[in-house]
Parts: sequence; C-alpha cells; structure tokens
Amino acid sequence: MDASKFSSIIIFVGIFLCLCLAQVKAESEFTIVTDDSEKTCTSKISDCSTTPPIHDLLLGLKGAMGEQGLPGVNRKCDCIPRGNTENDKGESRSRPSKRTCRNVSQSDQKQQWLGKNELDSFKIECVEGNLTCIARENFLPAVFIEINKNLTGESQFVYWNKIASRSLKDMLGIRSSQITWLHGLVNSARQTLRIHGLNVAAQNRGTIGTFVQLLTWNDVIIGSASTDSAPFYYNVVFPDSCTETNSTAKPCEYFDVTMETEMVVRLPVTDIIFNFSSTEANLNVSVENIELCFE
Ligand SMILES: *[C@@H]1O[C@H](CO)[C@@H](O)[C@H](O)[C@H]1NC(C)=O
Ligand SMILES: *[C@@H]1O[C@H](CO)[C@@H](O)[C@H](O)[C@H]1NC(C)=O
Ligand SMILES: *[C@@H]1O[C@H](CO)[C@@H](O)[C@H](O)[C@H]1NC(C)=O
Ligand SMILES: *[C@@H]1O[C@H](CO)[C@@H](O)[C@H](O)[C@H]1NC(C)=O
Ligand SMILES: *[C@@H]1O[C@H](CO)[C@@H](O)[C@H](O)[C@H]1NC(C)=O
Ligand SMILES: *[C@@H]1O[C@H](CO)[C@@H](O)[C@H](O)[C@H]1NC(C)=O
Repeated sequence: MDASKFSSIIIFVGIFLCLCLAQVKAESEFTIVTDDSEKTCTSKISDCSTTPPIHDLLLGLKGAMGEQGLPGVNRKCDCIPRGNTENDKGESRSRPSKRTCRNVSQSDQKQQWLGKNELDSFKIECVEGNLTCIARENFLPAVFIEINKNLTGESQFVYWNKIASRSLKDMLGIRSSQITWLHGLVNSARQTLRIHGLNVAAQNRGTIGTFVQLLTWNDVIIGSASTDSAPFYYNVVFPDSCTETNSTAKPCEYFDVTMETEMVVRLPVTDIIFNFSSTEANLNVSVENIELCFE
C-alpha cells in the first residue's frame, strides 16, 4: 500500500468516527469509505453501534484456525550451570564462590574454591577469619639452582625468571587472570617468600638490600628500604634458630622476605633480581612461596 493510499484511509476512518459520534445526536444520514477498494458506503446512525472495530475494517476478517503443529522432541540436555549465584559456597571446583573469606560468615568458611566461574576457579584457605589465602597446595616446590660465574658471566644482576625453569608467578600455581580478579575484591595483600642459600647471617641482615630486589606485580623494582622511586619495600625475617644470641654470626640457611600493602596491585611479586657482583663462591639458591593472602 503506498503512502497516499494509507493516509487517505486514515483520514476517512477519522472522518467516519467523527461523523459517527456526531450522529449520535444528529440522527441524520452520512457517507463513509470503509475499505481498500474505496467503495462508498452509506450508513444510518442505528448501524454505527454494530460497526466492527476499526482494525477489522482494515485487515479483513480472521481466517479459520490452522492445523496443530508437530509435537516437540523429547530430549534430555546436559545442563551446565551458567555463571554462579551468591549462594555458591565454593565447595567444588565447578561451583566456586565469588565471595572472599571476609564476606563469608566464619561458620561458613568451609569454602575451598573461589573464582569468576568454573573455568577460573582456584583453591583457597580462610586464615584468621578474614584472610583469603591461596591454598599452599597450589605452590610448586622450591627448585635449587647453582649460581656461579659461569651462569652469571659478566652480568651483575640475575633475574630468577631467566635462570629458573618456572617463573616466580608460575610457582604460585595460579593464573594472572585469577589474581587480577581477586584484586578487584580485596583491600589489602600480604606475601611471604623464602630465599634459601644466600648464606647471610642474621647480624648482616642490612646487606640483604644490596643482594635482593623484587619486581612487584605493577612492575616496580623494590628493595629492603623505601626510596624516592620505590616507596614500597620488603622486610626481612630470619628464623629463630638464626637469631638466638650465639647463632647470629653464622650464615643462615634461609630467610623470609615479607610484604604487606593496601595497594593490592603491588602483590604478588613477579620476579627476584639477585645482585651477584661481589659473589665469588658458588651459591645454591632457591625461592619458595610461603604465603599469599588478601583481605
Ligand atoms: C564484604 O565485607 C565488607 C566488610 O565486612 C563489606 O564492606 C563489603 O560490602 C562486603 N562485600 C560484599 C560483596 O558483600
Ligand atoms: C576479622 O573478623 C572478625 C570476626 O569475623 C572481626 O571481629 C574482626 O574485626 C575482623 N578483623 C578485621 C581486621 O577486619
Ligand atoms: C665453568 O664451566 C667450565 C666448563 O664448563 C667448568 O670447567 C668450570 O668448572 C665451571 N666453573 C664453575 C665455577 O663452575
Ligand atoms: C650490587 O652489589 C654491589 C656490591 O655489593 C653494590 O656495590 C651495589 O650497590 C649493588 N647494587 C644494587 C643495585 O644494590
Ligand atoms: C652462648 O655462648 C656462651 C659462651 O660461648 C654460652 O655461655 C651460652 O650458654 C651460649 N648460649 C646459648 C643460648 O647457647
Ligand atoms: C642445593 O641444595 C639442596 C637443598 O639443600 C640440595 O638438595 C642440592 O643437592 C644442592 N645442590 C647443589 C648443586 O649443591
């Protein structure tokens, strides 16, 4: 139907209505156009009340009902739950919780799996009530690497990720996407790394800053003290056996570096940079994840 035809019908229908209403009082004869063929019809006011509704005038009468369609196929679907709900308690890998330990009442802290969805879930432990810690079973075991002048060559600095078979991040056993998702839910982070084999005595802890630097998640190199370019720093903790009065001068088997921050994007650290410029002896070095927790 072209536009002019259509508008003329609208106009005529309008006129029909007006006249029809007018005739309720006037009771005189009137003329209307009611269909596509533009036939002219004459009607009296008494007929107006029986006039079919306007859409019937335009569309014609309804046809008879068609035959019934074929029945649907009776099929069982392998339903995979889509997304998950706030009610998921994180009791299985396929139904991870989206809430950290802080947001789960202590009686409900049986939760083990956290994640955006079943493909991205990872195992956690609730510690001290409010801390969400990456389950230690995710951490890959420490690997010892012998460091000597053959390995370091002329270079002063050795990056752990270059000499080790697994990067520090891979040793956490958790993917980057899982860490960044967790960052969005938490307000603070803390991490502990254990460094074996540097043979530093507790009384020489002050020298560790020249030996060890860390690369943070947000790509800043930090040391054991704050600097103009890197205000964040790590702390050094020796095991008790190395801090007893008579053992502080003996080289310690290992020490821990710990970090805690409310700028969660700083953690976890992604690499360790060793400064072997003054190292003559061969070293048998290893790094181990002890703790990575968020609150
Ligand atoms: C989680 O808990 C904290 C403090 O208890 C609260 O401020 C926050 O709104 C909670 N978040 C959710 C998603 O429940
Ligand atoms: C940790 O949780 C406990 C009990 O759930 C609460 O009393 C305490 O204030 C929380 N601590 C912090 C630092 O939010
Ligand atoms: C360096 O490598 C050479 C040859 O591979 C070897 O003979 C030497 O012992 C190595 N030096 C050290 C300090 O391991
Ligand atoms: C690396 O070690 C050398 C020798 O101990 C020291 O002079 C230098 O300042 C250290 N470099 C860094 C960046 O700590
Ligand atoms: C430390 O050494 C002193 C003298 O060698 C000894 O008298 C003392 O019992 C030792 N202390 C410990 C805790 O071993
Ligand atoms: C390095 O230390 C570990 C643990 O003490 C030991 O098992 C390994 O044999 C050592 N490797 C070398 C080359 O000394």
